[in-house]
Amino acid sequence: MYKIIDGKLTAGLIKNEIALKVAERAKSGKKIPHLAAILVGSNASSETYVANKIKDCGEVGFRSTLVRMNDDVPEEELLEAIRKLNNDPDIDAFIVQLPLPEHISENRIIEAIDPEKDADGFHPVNIGRMVVGLEGYLPATPFGIVELLKRYDIETSGRECVVIGRSNIVGRPLSILLSRKGTDATVTLVHSRTRDIASHLRRADIIVAALGSPGFVTADMIKQGAVVIDVGTTRVPSPSARSGWKLAGDVDFDNVAPLCSWITPVPGGVGPMTRVALLRNTLMAVELK
Ligand code: GUN
Repeated sequence: MYKIIDGKLTAGLIKNEIALKVAERAKSGKKIPHLAAILVGSNASSETYVANKIKDCGEVGFRSTLVRMNDDVPEEELLEAIRKLNNDPDIDAFIVQLPLPEHISENRIIEAIDPEKDADGFHPVNIGRMVVGLEGYLPATPFGIVELLKRYDIETSGRECVVIGRSNIVGRPLSILLSRKGTDATVTLVHSRTRDIASHLRRADIIVAALGSPGFVTADMIKQGAVVIDVGTTRVPSPSARSGWKLAGDVDFDNVAPLCSWITPVPGGVGPMTRVALLRNTLMAVELK
């Protein structure tokens, strides 16, 4: 019988740990962490993500600031907003919600963020620190996944781990994090140009699906007893839902789960852990000061 990796529950536990630390800081007169978020445009998913991040801040006792900009904002104006946050001593860390409109270079924006305030851990300096195993901010989703595996005592050392998807914010950094000393997995990163993805998945002890294709991972690709982590969060039409849509993972849960030892649900698996990572990085930013 498979067991569920409950990201919502785990995220709640970590939030309590963070809230305790914030309360202690407040008691001893130390600065209360302050996270800012820049939201460009009004993409529905981004609106929800940012609203949740702001809500999380309130729940652990952080301060938060939301900076909104129009879809057609010139890149230079966004860069100026970033410089302002970089230079504001009251802001400990901030994020620029992705994706950005076509006319703005994501790389240029990420590089403009002060690495010491990079709550997402996306800046090349922080990615570099992660690669060589230095302490620092970690990208939110990869951190959330590794933390889930740790807290559920799921063995990673020497195990065959296959990550599907090579995005800069999930697949690629996760493949590095999993293979670092201390986690010690043997990692294969498969992507849209990989020949015969299924053959790689069939020998995996741990599968992480992060490609954004609903139901991509099917039962015929699973080794008995595998651990399956589903990062997918695609909105698909659902007439029975009040909103008219529901979140779909990259894994065909109903047919895959019976073969697994552990599996994450969507929603309530990786998503809440991603949000917690942001809080972790923000707390780290204020503690490092
Ligand atoms: N868009 C999807 N995931 C993320 C994330 O973790 N951070 C930011 N800034 N944007 C995202």
